[in-house]
Amino acid sequence: MTLTPELLRWLQSDEAVGPLQRLTQNPPEDAALLPTLTGLRKRFTPAQASALVTTARLRKRAEKKFDAGASKMFFSKISLQQASPQEVARYTARRYAGFAQVVDLGCGLGTDSIALAETGVRVLAVDRDSLAAALVQANARALNLSARIQPLRADVTRPAWRIAAAWADPGRRTDARRIFHPDALLPPLSALLDLQRRCIPHLGVKLMPGLPHHAIPPGAEAEWISLNGELKEAVLWFGTLVAQPGRVATALPAGVSLRARGTRAAVRAPGVFLYEPDPAVIRAGAVGDLAQQLGLWQIDADIAYLSGDALMDTPLARAWRILEHHPFDLKHLNRRLRALAARVVAVKKRGSPIEPEPFRKRLYRQKSGRPVVVILTRVANRPWMLIGERCVTKQPVSGKMVED
Ligand SMILES: C[S@@+](CC[C@H](N)C(=O)[O-])C[C@H]1O[C@@H](n2cnc3c(N)ncnc32)[C@H](O)[C@@H]1O
Repeated sequence: MTLTPELLRWLQSDEAVGPLQRLTQNPPEDAALLPTLTGLRKRFTPAQASALVTTARLRKRAEKKFDAGASKMFFSKISLQQASPQEVARYTARRYAGFAQVVDLGCGLGTDSIALAETGVRVLAVDRDSLAAALVQANARALNLSARIQPLRADVTRPAWRIAAAWADPGRRTDARRIFHPDALLPPLSALLDLQRRCIPHLGVKLMPGLPHHAIPPGAEAEWISLNGELKEAVLWFGTLVAQPGRVATALPAGVSLRARGTRAAVRAPGVFLYEPDPAVIRAGAVGDLAQQLGLWQIDADIAYLSGDALMDTPLARAWRILEHHPFDLKHLNRRLRALAARVVAVKKRGSPIEPEPFRKRLYRQKSGRPVVVILTRVANRPWMLIGERCVTKQPVSGKMVED
């Protein structure tokens, strides 16, 4: 089903509200899809029946990205795929406190516009796509934010904006293919940077996490953001939205940030604990800074694993207690796993060419044995293996900056 602005308007009509509410409470699974559609087609056109069912099912799917508001919102499959996770959108929106109005340059279904409006700013939500403009309007209404979100259908590169602050989340896919070059984004990064230079000094641009450090313009701040240990995005900040020029890593939901200052970590043999820095820390190039902050060291000069003798409670790294470690040798590894009565729950690797899953199948495994992780890496530039146990630590929940 292709959602159109007309169908979206109908979904918000008195005729559709009741059936849509009921379907949202109980969206049909695949097996029940056909009978549900057949039943609905007795009262509605095939397109309307399909729009009802698809919206209910997308609302269910959207729960992964949005809070309870998802059950009132409207989505198309593509706009939901492209939407920022709500928690990340709310975090980035916080930088705009102090601006009366912000333009969302390419708003999609409006996740970022909504997060901005929730902070109290007025948002001009711009998209060249007629369905996106209709979706943001519908979602603003559904969440009682119409007074603060004004939709506008336009190409963001055209108007001569007279506005101080903007957010942009350019599209990263065309025809289901992922875009890797910033100037192939929709709109391209170069067009957004041109707007920033000419007329919108205070700009935030969401980009792919693979943003190379050399692409950070002078004076800008690049922030890599992870959510629950998964790297989500890099953001380039300009103007007064810059907290400090340079690179920073932020781990959500804790909201803890770490600045990259080019610190080099000491290199030593593994200690009692192994730490895997959050991917935002690694991408921001702040591994040495994290080591310094927490009193850790690298186990190899080129590998982003850290080690230490104390257990640190930090949202910026995951910890394993190292049970033992040895130069890499499969036979010896299996002997040691047997001696530990271990069950390997995961094989992790960094700096090793071995494929973890096929490798795991070659490992000794005692049914209901002690759960361990095997880590394949390098120590002093030699292939190395560690057997570890996951340490569960309490994570801080409030936002704070880890500074040296
Ligand atoms: C990644 S999506 C935005 C998603 C949105 N931030 C969210 O979280 O829901 C990018 C949007 O930019 C729009 N877009 C791309 N190029 C544009 C242009 N030149 N002018 C206006 N909108 C554009 C697309 O139609 C798409 O809706």
